[in-house]
Amino acid sequence: MLEGVDTAFVQAGLPGGYRVASELDTGGYGITFKVDRAGQALAVKILDTHWHEAAIRTPLEISALRSVSHPNVVRIVDEGTLSTPIEPGRYRYIACEFVEGANLGDLFRGGYEFSVGEALSIGLQVAAGLEAIHEARLIHRDVKPKNVMFNHVTGAAVLLDVGIAKHLDVSPVTIGTPPGTFGWKSPEQIRQDALDKRSDIYTLGLLVYWLATGSHPFENRAAAHGGDLEAAMIAGQFDSVRHRQPGLTPQAAETIDQMLAVQPYDRPRRARDVVAALQ
Ligand SMILES: Nc1ncnc2c1ncn2[C@@H]1O[C@H](COP(=O)(O)OP(=O)(O)OP(=O)(O)O)[C@@H](O)[C@H]1O
Ligand SMILES: [Mg+2]
Repeated sequence: MLEGVDTAFVQAGLPGGYRVASELDTGGYGITFKVDRAGQALAVKILDTHWHEAAIRTPLEISALRSVSHPNVVRIVDEGTLSTPIEPGRYRYIACEFVEGANLGDLFRGGYEFSVGEALSIGLQVAAGLEAIHEARLIHRDVKPKNVMFNHVTGAAVLLDVGIAKHLDVSPVTIGTPPGTFGWKSPEQIRQDALDKRSDIYTLGLLVYWLATGSHPFENRAAAHGGDLEAAMIAGQFDSVRHRQPGLTPQAAETIDQMLAVQPYDRPRRARDVVAALQ
C-alpha cells in the first residue's frame, strides 16, 4: 500500500520549499510526516489513490475542506499530488498546520487522567469544531482519541485529520477503503451504510464517554457477542455514563448517552446542541 513511501520519496515528490523532518507515528490510514515550509511546521499526510478512498477529491470537496476555519479544527494549508517519476498522480498529499501537544490516545496510554471538567471541555471543543465542519457540508468520519490534540497547559483541544472528511454532495468513491478506525465507528459506519453528520455525533459520544470514564462504552459488552466489539456496538446496549461517572451533571450524562443511540434519529441533531449541553 504505502511501501517505499519514506522520507526521501516524499521529499522528492513535494513542491519546492518543503523540507521533510521526520515520519510521525503512523496510523491505519495514510502516512504522516512532520515537514517544515518557510519556517512553519506542518503535518503532511500521504494517501494512495489505489487504496484510500479519501485520496480522491473533487474541486468542491477541496474548496469545502479548505474553507473550514475554526480554533478547534486543524487548518489545511496546502494539498496536491506528489510528483513522482512512475505513476504520477498516484499519491495525494494534504498539508496541515502542526499542532503542538499530545493526542488523547498517547496521553491516556502515558497515564494521564482526565478530570471530569477536562472531559467535558475537550468534548465541547471537539463538538464546536465538528459544527464548523458540518456547516461546510462535510462529515469528518474519524473522530477518535488519536485524532484530537490536547494541550493540558492551555486546555485547548484541536481535531485532526480533517483532510479525509467527505462532502455530502460528492458521491462516495468505491475504490479503496473509507476512513474510520476499529472501535471508533458509528453503527452505520460499521455496516458501511450511507453516513451523515449524525455519524460524527455518535463517535463524539464514544470519545466523551471514554474521556469521562476511562473506558470504551462497549468494551465490557463484547464478551456477550463472542468477543465481537462491533457486534456489541450494533446491538447498542451499554451502561449509562452516569453509572460509571457519577460526577457528571444529569444534562451532560443524558446527552452523552443520547449521542450513542443506535438510530441516528435518536441522537442530538447537531453538534451545536452538544456544545450547549456539555457547557
Ligand atoms: N496536524 C498535526 N499536528 C501535530 N501532530 C499531528 C498532526 N497530524 C497528525 N499528527 C500526529 O501524528 C499521529 C499520526 O497521525 P495519522 O493521522 O497518520 O495517524 P492516526 O491518527 O493514528 O491514524 P489514522 O491514520 O487512522 O488517522 C497522530 O496521532 C498525531 O499524534
Ligand atoms: Mg490521524
